[in-house]
Amino acid sequence: MASVTSLSDSVQQQLASALSATLPEAAGADPLLRRSDRADFQANGILALAKKAKANPRELALRVVSEVATGDELIKDVEVSGPGFLNVTVSDRAIVANLAARSADGARLGVPRAEAPGTTVIDYAQPNVAKEMHVGHLRSAVIGDAVVQILEFTGEKVVRRHHIGDWGTQFGMLIQYLDEHPSELDHKGGDGVSGEEAMSNLDRLYKAARKLFDSDEEFKTRARRRVVDLQAGEPRTLATWQRFVDESKIYFFSVFEKLDMEVHDEDIVGESGYNDMLHETCRLLEESGVAVRSEGALCVFFDDIKGPDGNPVPLIVQKSDGGFGYAATDLSAIRDRVFRLKADTLLYVVDARQALHFRMVFETARRAGWLNDTVKAHQLAFGTILGKDGKPFKTRAGETVKLEDLLDEAVDRATAVVREKAEKVGLTEDEIVENGRYVGVGAVKYADLSTSAVRDYKFDLDQMVSLNGDTSVYLQYAYARVQSILRKAGEARPAAHPELELAPAERALGLHLDRFAETLREAGASYEPHKLAAYLYQLASALTTFYDQCPVLKADTPEQVENRLFLIDLTARTLHQGMALLGIRTPDRL
Ligand code: ARG
Repeated sequence: MASVTSLSDSVQQQLASALSATLPEAAGADPLLRRSDRADFQANGILALAKKAKANPRELALRVVSEVATGDELIKDVEVSGPGFLNVTVSDRAIVANLAARSADGARLGVPRAEAPGTTVIDYAQPNVAKEMHVGHLRSAVIGDAVVQILEFTGEKVVRRHHIGDWGTQFGMLIQYLDEHPSELDHKGGDGVSGEEAMSNLDRLYKAARKLFDSDEEFKTRARRRVVDLQAGEPRTLATWQRFVDESKIYFFSVFEKLDMEVHDEDIVGESGYNDMLHETCRLLEESGVAVRSEGALCVFFDDIKGPDGNPVPLIVQKSDGGFGYAATDLSAIRDRVFRLKADTLLYVVDARQALHFRMVFETARRAGWLNDTVKAHQLAFGTILGKDGKPFKTRAGETVKLEDLLDEAVDRATAVVREKAEKVGLTEDEIVENGRYVGVGAVKYADLSTSAVRDYKFDLDQMVSLNGDTSVYLQYAYARVQSILRKAGEARPAAHPELELAPAERALGLHLDRFAETLREAGASYEPHKLAAYLYQLASALTTFYDQCPVLKADTPEQVENRLFLIDLTARTLHQGMALLGIRTPDRL
């Protein structure tokens, strides 16, 4: 099916041609159309154009107005206001006809695909092997997943990369410990180990290994030797290392499933995935002079990055003992993503506290010529999740909060909320449990996605599962309410009637529906899912106002009933699609 030109684009085009008919030198100029409270749209572009042409803006505006065709087709009315603004009102027929075209386009709802899509490699949901996932990993996963969905929907080719922390000196002690205590990762229940069991095994082992490492000098020496073996790719050491990775993946996948999020094994390319490239990366940087040897280490220096003592802080690509760290891996990953995966955009959904690392890595890659004006890297930095007290989120005992506990609690709360209304809606126990999960997980995701990512936000479950205000459950109820009306409609089916006059609340809802594509375009271009969340919240609010003012099943005429059913049906489908892009489900009955 075909994509649909939005009303604002159509109006924009008409004004632009009226403008160039009036003032030939303004051909191609932007009339600067905005939505407006006074009319449907306002164009502000004439002021600057008049100034440039040394004309009187009001006069120019009046002449443009006389060139605009008005009527039932698109622009019903256009007026000059103030110093030379144009206030535009579109016809009711144009609104309904536009929505009918969107409605006929299935799940795409008339949203166009990018004409020249690029390739984005997105680095997100990157927990660390043998470690618990924490709330920071939640943010990366939730924001990253939404950005992936939005970009793909707008036509971009997206390659996912889960850059898990699966390499480093800490594995020496773990491997040595496991070899000395071989039954520690054995599964009690045979093959089908749960994510929870996997994590508790790893956690126990990690703590025990750490304890021994800190207290037993001989163990420490044996552990350090294993780091060397691991780096040399000694087969038995690698095999033990692989057991940690496999065990951790069982746990990761169980958490992603809890998060109701799809992650594919082939997209998990951790730090170890770039081991073969590290030497070459260093060689290229050193030969080109981008990196220099300093006290034995291979370093990249930056004029504007200095430590508290005023001395420059370099990016260390290779340590003086020959070891490679986080930076060498990230630089190698850039080469892989740019040259092999052919990305033109590299996106990193990573905690804002790693901003300096990425600034240095990107600048190094630019100096090396791996990044440039057409191949760009961007850190989508996110803020910290805070507790109700405004401090970084901790348990009462002062430990970092486990992601799973937090999700479980959200689902418990949400299930209680769902249960309260369940009897009235006639939900079975299974439905209560399923909806509780969708509402709880949705609440956590929505809270994360509805504020600008870079801001810290307070994790407040009471607020998150509240039925009023900017919450996912408010949106989910809005969707379910439409489904309930559609079920009650009996014989009456949704059908567009462009010949009908619209009430103000119908127009407002219709004009907002028309902005879905534009919202996605903006949210995708700036990697800001919160713009989509805000749009959906406004959509649900416009729907609430519509219900207050416009009876649906008891409307005056059968045509009006059909037209209103059509409006709420399209609203529900837009809510459903928009929420799906945010990774949130919309149950039919709630
Ligand atoms: N594993 C890292 C952490 O837990 C995040 C990895 C971010 N991605 C990257 N390419 N450095 O902090």
